[in-house]
Amino acid sequence: MIHYMSEESVLAIHQLTKQFGGHVAVKNVNLEIIKGDILGIIGPNGAGKSSFLNCIIGTYKPEIGEIFFKGENITSLSTHRIIRKGMSRTFQVPRVFQECTLLENMLTPVLHLKLPKNQLVRKASALLERLSIGGREHDLAMELSGGQQKLLEFARSLMLDPDVLLLDEPFAGVHPTLKEVMVQGIREVHKEGVTMMIVSHDLPPLYKLTNDIIVLNQGEIIARGNPKNLQNDSVVVNAYFGR
Ligand SMILES: Nc1ncnc2c1ncn2[C@@H]1O[C@H](COP(=O)(O)OP(=O)(O)O)[C@@H](O)[C@H]1O
Ligand SMILES: [Mg+2]
Repeated sequence: MIHYMSEESVLAIHQLTKQFGGHVAVKNVNLEIIKGDILGIIGPNGAGKSSFLNCIIGTYKPEIGEIFFKGENITSLSTHRIIRKGMSRTFQVPRVFQECTLLENMLTPVLHLKLPKNQLVRKASALLERLSIGGREHDLAMELSGGQQKLLEFARSLMLDPDVLLLDEPFAGVHPTLKEVMVQGIREVHKEGVTMMIVSHDLPPLYKLTNDIIVLNQGEIIARGNPKNLQNDSVVVNAYFGR
């Protein structure tokens, strides 16, 4: 089968369906993401947002559908290989190594690279600094607040210079001050050319970052538009805002 993919598209998703037992978590999703875009993903709890990201980065294997990353079909590749091709992600509940230092956490994605350690350490320090947790390289991750752990995970996701970054609820449970740091950090990384998909049920910070938002409901994309379009869309209001 030949799939149309526009030249600037970095991710193309065709008819993606993921089921758990009889339950359809992601249902026939078609989507194309242009290089340099930020796509927001919203939808009620259980809509399939995290499952969708998990399918894209290879953690879940879809029953139906295909995913193209920079023109290559990655549907059957392992997460590990997809990451090495330039995709990265963060988790809804940050998965940092609590008993390791911030620096050790930062270096885990790059251990396989044969780069001089001091170069990697400098890069790690600069990223931590940028996300307001600089100078704490030798503290343990468990000493950070929940929001700071999200910033650490975000910083770590940048160590391999991804082309595409998938962020799952980056603002959830984050103190308002740190939320602003997160928004600013995402903005800067985006300016450097990273394409992003951001799942967020927290709408104000998401709206600061993008006008291009899809709404998932029961695994399906029920709308795509800017915040204003969506707030005036009765299907969206019923599925989401109405609750
Ligand atoms: N690993 C899994 N095993 C079984 N069911 C799952 C799994 N992951 C997600 N689901 C189910 O898929 C649906 C969508 O979940 P999820 O993707 O986490 O939604 P969201 O992130 O939008 O809240 C839910 O009904 C959830 O219980
Ligand atoms: Mg989720």
